[in-house]
Order: sequence, then C-alpha cells, then structure tokens
Amino acid sequence: MPQPNQHSLVYILLLWTTIISIFQVVFTILFFTAGRNGLSQNSSAVEQEHIMKSQQHSTLSPPSKDRLHLPRGKMLTFTAKGAKIPIVWGSKNPNPGVVSATGSRLSIKEDGYFLLNLKVTLIPCQETQESDNLDHTVSLKWTNKVILEGWINTKTNSTGVLSKIEEMPAGGTLMVNISPADKCINTTESATHLDIIYMARP
Ligand SMILES: *[C@@H]1O[C@H](CO)[C@@H](O)[C@H](O)[C@H]1NC(C)=O
Ligand SMILES: *[C@@H]1O[C@H](CO)[C@@H](O)[C@H](O)[C@H]1NC(C)=O
Repeated sequence: MPQPNQHSLVYILLLWTTIISIFQVVFTILFFTAGRNGLSQNSSAVEQEHIMKSQQHSTLSPPSKDRLHLPRGKMLTFTAKGAKIPIVWGSKNPNPGVVSATGSRLSIKEDGYFLLNLKVTLIPCQETQESDNLDHTVSLKWTNKVILEGWINTKTNSTGVLSKIEEMPAGGTLMVNISPADKCINTTESATHLDIIYMARP
C-alpha cells in the first residue's frame, strides 16, 4: 500500500510532466513560426538588395547616361512668302543658327539629321492665261542633288506631303524647283510648306 506522502509525490510529478509538455509544445510552435518569419524577412531583404543593386547598375550603365545627353530636336517651319516661282521662303520660327532662309534658298548651318516635309500646292496665276494641263514636277535639291521629287496631282493641284530624312553637313543649301514654272503658289501654310525637324548627331 503506498503511503499518503508517496501519493502526493506522484501528483506533483504528474503536474510537473504536464507543465513541461505544455512548455515543449509552446516552444516548438514558437520556434517554427519565428523561423518562418525570419526566413521570409531574409528573402525580402535579399530581394531588396537585388533591386538596389539593379538600380545602382542602371544608374551607372551607359544607356541611361546617354539618355541625359541626347541632342534636343529643333522644329523649323517655312512658308511661301510670295505666289511666284521659285518659292521665296519665310521662317515661322527662325533659327538661323540651324537653317537660314535667304530668298528661295535655305542654308544649312549645322551638321546633323534632317527630317524634311515638303508640300506644294499650285494655283493659276492671275495675269497669265490658263496653261495646258502639263505635269508639274516639284523637286527638293540639296546643293545640286535631288533628294525629294514629286508631281502635282491634277485633281488637288498639290504634291501632297513629300518626306525624307537626310544626313546633311553644314554649308549646303536646299532649294525647291518647280517645272514648268507657269503657275503660282498657294501661300496658305496648310497648302504649301517646308517643315524641318533637325537633330544633332549624337
Ligand atoms: C486646280 O486648279 C484648276 C485650275 O488650274 C482649278 O480649276 C481647280 O478647281 C483646282 N482644284 C482644286 C482642288 O483646287
Ligand atoms: C489655298 O489653299 C487653301 C487651303 O486648301 C484654300 O482654302 C484657299 O482657297 C487656296 N487659295 C487659293 C487662292 O486658291
């Protein structure tokens, strides 16, 4: 027969093992959840570092540096000052440092790339009689070389837009030739214009 003293000792032992088990369970749970948190924190830190590294890389890499040094484009619009052929050009937004207009010639003052947009519309001249319905050729010459050519559409009396991109050095001249020169120019900007976008060579 166990003595009452031994009996209480068994109870205390049981209580003690129960407490220890509870602590074990709690610690096991804490260990795993904390471990997972730590892991995810770690991975996000790695990601952050990666992002920072790639940002650093992109700020140091040449393409973004070049983007800062891209040449700025210049827009130039020339309109016909008079109805007579050859067209005398007037500048709407003068930038004589790039292209300067003197009479019917446009002088190129800077090396670079030029996007040229030419449209010519003809009208009958008042003082002359209607000429025969001849084909009219319109050409844009750079110095002596034809770089753009088009024909007057007999329905619209216009070339429509003639467009070209040219790399040109400073020093040359642009000129528009119309042949035969038996008609006049519609000087409205939407009907006759020479638009240029200039870009310096990068
Ligand atoms: C084109 O010009 C002719 C005269 O040369 C005129 O009769 C005709 O109406 C013009 N067409 C347009 C669309 O302006
Ligand atoms: C010139 O062209 C514009 C636009 O197409 C037109 O409104 C105008 O009547 C034309 N001018 C002449 C004199 O034909």
